[in-house]
Amino acid sequence: SPSDPDLVARARAAKEALGERVFVLGHHYQRDEVIEFADVTGDSFKLARDAAARPEAEFIVFCGVHFMAESADILTGEHQQVVLPDLAAGCSMADMARLAQVEDAWDALEAAGVADSVVPVTYMNSSADIKAFVGRHDGTVCTSSNAETALEWAFGQKPDAKVLFLPDQHLGRNTAVLQMGFSLDECVVWNPHLPDGGLTREELAGARMILWRGHCSVHGRFSPAVVDELRATIPGVQILVHPECVHEVVLKADLVGSTEFIIKTIEAAPAGTSWAIGTELNLVKRLAAAHPDKRIAFLDKNVCYCSTMNRIDLPHFVWAMESLVAGTVANRIEVDPDTTHWARVALQRMLDLPG
Ligand code: 13P
Ligand code: SF4
Repeated sequence: SPSDPDLVARARAAKEALGERVFVLGHHYQRDEVIEFADVTGDSFKLARDAAARPEAEFIVFCGVHFMAESADILTGEHQQVVLPDLAAGCSMADMARLAQVEDAWDALEAAGVADSVVPVTYMNSSADIKAFVGRHDGTVCTSSNAETALEWAFGQKPDAKVLFLPDQHLGRNTAVLQMGFSLDECVVWNPHLPDGGLTREELAGARMILWRGHCSVHGRFSPAVVDELRATIPGVQILVHPECVHEVVLKADLVGSTEFIIKTIEAAPAGTSWAIGTELNLVKRLAAAHPDKRIAFLDKNVCYCSTMNRIDLPHFVWAMESLVAGTVANRIEVDPDTTHWARVALQRMLDLPG
């Protein structure tokens, strides 16, 4: 639906009033009405890299979810203040790995005698304290665009290394099995709600990938049956999905990659081609609107928007921007210095990976 013209005018006026003092970042899953005001758009990796691109900007308004705003705060200067227009914009996947649970898991790995060979790798979609834990334990962060490189780095750290992969079991499994050639049997799932993760010592000893039992509540809903249905109904359709989808869906897809990869793939696709895309709906709709010469379908019309990404709407954006104009930094995201230090160690390892 079209945006309220009054709010659009207020957003424009606030952005103009702030000028170079504000830098607006927008994740690809954000609503059109918000993306319109972003200085930079990107996937999680690009936004982490670009966050520090405007050191002269006093304010970074992050249109995305909480863990992304935390990462921006960690990676930018102390003089820069990060704002999340709605503090309720969290991520259910990031919430599935709490620091106390991860510390308990590490203690259990130590008790089982395997911790010395474990390298922790956390997906960007995790809280700052989980990234700091990983930094303290000589691990790295990864995103969906560099998971394979990050895992190669991790497996190269120690002889017979095992990786504890947090918190998205699907990204971990898909990368290990489909890109790195591990078998499904070499991947075990650590359930934080069971003693010892629900795993026997033999299972742990035989594992190469210890996958945290987390998932994305949006991507986890695409099913392999839907892929079969689409292939039967749309001739020549190519299935393009995000690696947060379950393994069985990714196995049936033609192409898999981050949101930035999905965009580049569609941009490069010849006119007249047909695509079904398994990722967040705001992005799929925007791609369909931008490429009327290609047939672009949403992989499953029963799957809905990411509700927390959608919390950043034009009213919240206007409120955050007008607060800055009025001299109030509302909804500031500020990570404490110790967490910042160690989380930055882990994030910097990722940014230093080749490629
Ligand atoms: P990317 O931005 O890495 O594609 O991740 C998608 C996502 O779910 C972010 O929350
Ligand atoms: Fe989290 Fe999934 Fe939403 Fe991304 S799409 S913010 S992983 S719940």
